[in-house]
Amino acid sequence: MATAEQIKALLRSHTSGDDDLFRSVALQIAAHEATKGNDSLANSLRELVATAKRGQQSTGSPRAVPITRPVGELAGMVQASYPSIRLSEMVLADSIRGGIEELIHQQRQKDLLRNHGLSPKRKILLVGPPGCGKTMTASVLAKECGLPLLFVQLHSLITKYMGETAAKLHVLFDSMCETRGVYLFDEFDAIGATRTASNDVGEARRILNSFLQFLERDDSESIIVAATNFVGMLDDALFRRFDDVITYELPDKTLVRRLIENRLSTFDLSSVKWAEIGLAARGLSHAEVARACDDAARGAVLANEQSILHDSLVKALANRSGMRPSRPRKKLKG
Ligand SMILES: Nc1ncnc2c1ncn2[C@@H]1O[C@H](COP(=O)(O)OP(=O)(O)OP(=O)(O)O)[C@@H](O)[C@H]1O
Ligand SMILES: [Mg+2]
Repeated sequence: MATAEQIKALLRSHTSGDDDLFRSVALQIAAHEATKGNDSLANSLRELVATAKRGQQSTGSPRAVPITRPVGELAGMVQASYPSIRLSEMVLADSIRGGIEELIHQQRQKDLLRNHGLSPKRKILLVGPPGCGKTMTASVLAKECGLPLLFVQLHSLITKYMGETAAKLHVLFDSMCETRGVYLFDEFDAIGATRTASNDVGEARRILNSFLQFLERDDSESIIVAATNFVGMLDDALFRRFDDVITYELPDKTLVRRLIENRLSTFDLSSVKWAEIGLAARGLSHAEVARACDDAARGAVLANEQSILHDSLVKALANRSGMRPSRPRKKLKG
């Protein structure tokens, strides 16, 4: 019988997800049994370990290890989380929703596809104006596919030194094979800007080339999501390396109404004149409409009202319009 220490070590290795340690402890138990003359038990334990190892290698299916703590070099490069937001919470045009649903469906059926020599879509580029749900989509994909979201910290990835950046990209793309997850490159224009842009310098071009090579070679089971507002700045070579490009747009009046009804579902909205709201919200993003809803809701709660009055919603939307910044965004470092 295994010792108490061995059983504890076995459990510890299992809970920490350390397969190598788990196998090593199991083999120690087998050796322990062999010294006591329990050869048949020792042999069957060794066989079980060997079969488990072969199984893991042949499926080549890395598990979605719960990494609350990326370790080593990866630690400063990605931030891991387990989002809880669902696709049903997003308000999207049908064509955009269709693209996201397709990806989720293919990911859920990835084994079936692979059995037929096909791979599911897993490299996507999200483009469009700020506040229309690109980052939110990455969270939704993680939730719907049961994967961790690994938010790539571009500022720590891109350094002044090409050699360092390439080495970091290497660690990152290796991690995609080892830990299946949704890897989000947000504000991707920082590396995706066109190689011939006037602000381009040799380093930036080499970083992009290096990224493109890693992206092309990557055959992990992770989902790679790149998001940007600056589609015009992106290099043509990038587009063909993604399985899909999803273009987000500002919400039209139908989507604005749905967004408001979702966001203010606990209030009475019977006084709201939707045609006027559509006009008041023209040009606003989903995020801005959502914030205007929150402004109106706060007002109603403080006034002890159950309903959101039409005028207060119009005012909240107009305020948000008035707040529109000139949208200064980070540009590619020269
Ligand atoms: N399609 C949507 N449906 C519902 N809510 C949305 C949608 N898009 C944005 N929101 C709301 O706006 C917030 C910000 O959205 P998000 O960060 O995903 O925008 P983004 O497109 O990534 O913007 P940016 O380009 O500035 O990074 C979300 O957390 C959510 O509250
Ligand atoms: Mg974003």
